[in-house]
Amino acid sequence: MNRKYRKTVIAGNWKMNKTPSQTKEFMTALKAIMPKGRWCDVALCVPAICIPAAVRAMRETRVGIGAENCHFEAKGAFTGELATDMLVDAGCKYVIIGHSERREMFGETDATVNAKVLAALEAGLTPIMCCGETLEQRQNGVTEEHIAMQIKLGLKDVPEDKIRKVIIAYEPIWAIGTGLTATPEQAQEVCENIRAVVRKLYSSKNARVISILYGGSMNEKNAYELLAQPDIDGGLIGGASLVPEKFVQIIEAANQPTV
Ligand code: 13P
Repeated sequence: MNRKYRKTVIAGNWKMNKTPSQTKEFMTALKAIMPKGRWCDVALCVPAICIPAAVRAMRETRVGIGAENCHFEAKGAFTGELATDMLVDAGCKYVIIGHSERREMFGETDATVNAKVLAALEAGLTPIMCCGETLEQRQNGVTEEHIAMQIKLGLKDVPEDKIRKVIIAYEPIWAIGTGLTATPEQAQEVCENIRAVVRKLYSSKNARVISILYGGSMNEKNAYELLAQPDIDGGLIGGASLVPEKFVQIIEAANQPTV
């Protein structure tokens, strides 16, 4: 983390977990144990149907609610999809875009990811744009170029004055939901490379202020060490964001001074 230049962000990704009633219970429990005082930015991205309950529960707090996906068109015949304006109107501040599960299981490509990032920015949402390599890509030594390509294509046509609103999440696919975490050094190396790509595409100034998160089995035990890395500005957390006590411990890890 480098708090001097950029925001630290702890974001939960609930994936397809919890009902609206369970969302209300979770938020009540979270509010009761949330650290007091100054803390990092906190976001919870929840299933679309849980957004109203989450927004209602967290109205007077600094926890921002987000969606896990959006469509890139403003409206029209796209059965089952949600437009960015709908998410804004429902009270969302964030939207996760291009999660590897959506790329792998729902046919998302760098082109659709890019269209969604542009739509989210246009609507005033903070996109959390995901990237990450498979185990095979890592073993073949193509992690750096694969991720550089995802970043370049995902950020295509994002103007200079909007780039600092984008949050990038690095999630090695082999570490998601597997209990395998990238080592702090592995995660740092990729996040540093991502920042270098942003520097090349935009400027040093923009690269210095953009927040880059790590995701992939981050939990209350390994968070501090990962967050202590200079180019890791927060976490995108799956499983551990479903338990208020665990999620709070990760927020506390992000609030601790790094050495
Ligand atoms: P886990 O924390 O469950 O590994 O999930 C990570 C993730 O995919 C967050 O988007």
